[in-house]
Amino acid sequence: MSETASISINGKSYELPVITGTENEQGIDISKLRDVSGAITIDPGYKNTGATKSAITFLDGEKGVLHYRGYPIEQLAEQSTFLEVAYLLIYGDLPSAQVLADFRKKISRHTLIHEDMKKFFDGFPSKSHPMGQLSCLVGALSAFYPESLNPNMTEEEEELTIIKLLAKMPTIVSWIYKKSLGHPVIYPRNELNFVHNFLNMTFGQITEDVVIDKVIVDAMHKLLILHADHEQNCSTSTVRIVGSSNANLYASISAGISALWGPLHGGANQAVIEMLENIRNDGGDSAKWLAKAKDKNDPFRLMGFGHRVYKNFDPRAKIIKKACDDVLDKLGINDPVLDIAKQLEEAALKDQYFVDRKLYPNVDFYSGIIYRALGFPTDMFTVLFALGRLPGWIAQWKEMRANKEPIGRPRQIYTGSTKRDYVPLDQR
Ligand code: ACO
Repeated sequence: MSETASISINGKSYELPVITGTENEQGIDISKLRDVSGAITIDPGYKNTGATKSAITFLDGEKGVLHYRGYPIEQLAEQSTFLEVAYLLIYGDLPSAQVLADFRKKISRHTLIHEDMKKFFDGFPSKSHPMGQLSCLVGALSAFYPESLNPNMTEEEEELTIIKLLAKMPTIVSWIYKKSLGHPVIYPRNELNFVHNFLNMTFGQITEDVVIDKVIVDAMHKLLILHADHEQNCSTSTVRIVGSSNANLYASISAGISALWGPLHGGANQAVIEMLENIRNDGGDSAKWLAKAKDKNDPFRLMGFGHRVYKNFDPRAKIIKKACDDVLDKLGINDPVLDIAKQLEEAALKDQYFVDRKLYPNVDFYSGIIYRALGFPTDMFTVLFALGRLPGWIAQWKEMRANKEPIGRPRQIYTGSTKRDYVPLDQR
């Protein structure tokens, strides 16, 4: 017999269906609640609200579990490649060797961006933040591919829109970097794999051949895989809600990029390194900074700590911490902020404030140290997160369309003035 939940409002009782997911998560289906009772639910920050049913990513915050389409993140980070994971997320299953080769080939046919898009790069001030540029450039793709605007596009047209975005994003990201240096851009090379091609466009030089170290390529695959999806977070929900109005894919992802930018979300990776640098310049006293983070009168928070869903450990942080040691070791880099990060983590994990609130290092705590070791400047970190998250956003947008989800439109409880009459200006 299926479960129900009962709710009583103004002395009247209502039975609501309870739905159970494949991993036995339960949710009370309130979709008819307002129709039958007139009442709505209030849940600031959606801490208890499921916005959709989804078959893409499963995570259990209490146990520190993360699966993409059923596959544990640890196995994918160790054994897969970023493009394979992108395929898995978007299409639902791991591809055969032939299917993956075809996917790769299709993407390699669309890596160039329209030459007119270069004018955008010329227009941005050289010091403008890469995330602002990225959001603008991705949204601008809709101007170059107007067929993407049709909400009733065929499956083939939808597929091409997706392939174009996957293919062009690395070119856009690396060109943002090149332009910030005032260097000429490097064009895509189709014989290189997706990640290697991105690194070549980023760190290659027009004047000479640059060999990208395999350690760097492997680390980049791992980082991008770890960021590839994370179910209904702030940026992903943004992508789904913008897409639910039938806005095109490029506009929806551009909105997701803006949502990711904030330091409480993807922007934390930049904020962590800036924080660690500040602590270092301040003498490296982690106790002083922990005290600041605990002080309710001080707006400072320990960046890269805490997570809405993970309340035990973030499995991605565990993998990244190890990768961080490996990468720095292999590249022979000694970064003093890594020691500060480790001291801070150790102290926080023993501190009652952090223990009581179940605050652990999240994916962003160590990722910036790796990005820096690979040669990226701090303000590019969140853009790299966006590059990694792209397949997840696309998969979620595609699922939202396939499910024919209604337009996202929350309700509210009004707390403003009740009806009053207009007073002409000369009488106020
Ligand atoms: N430093 C100090 N205190 C913290 C921190 C932190 N990093 N994170 C949470 N807390 C405290 C809060 O002050 C609050 O304390 P209280 O109960 O005494 O009022 C309690 O822990 C719960 O925090 P909330 O803000 O209510 O938790 P929420 O789930 O809304 O926020 C968030 C989660 C935004 C990630 C938060 O932990 C945070 O701001 N962390 C720092 C920023 C960060 O690293 N963001 C990246 C997250 S991962 C990602 O998006 C990719």
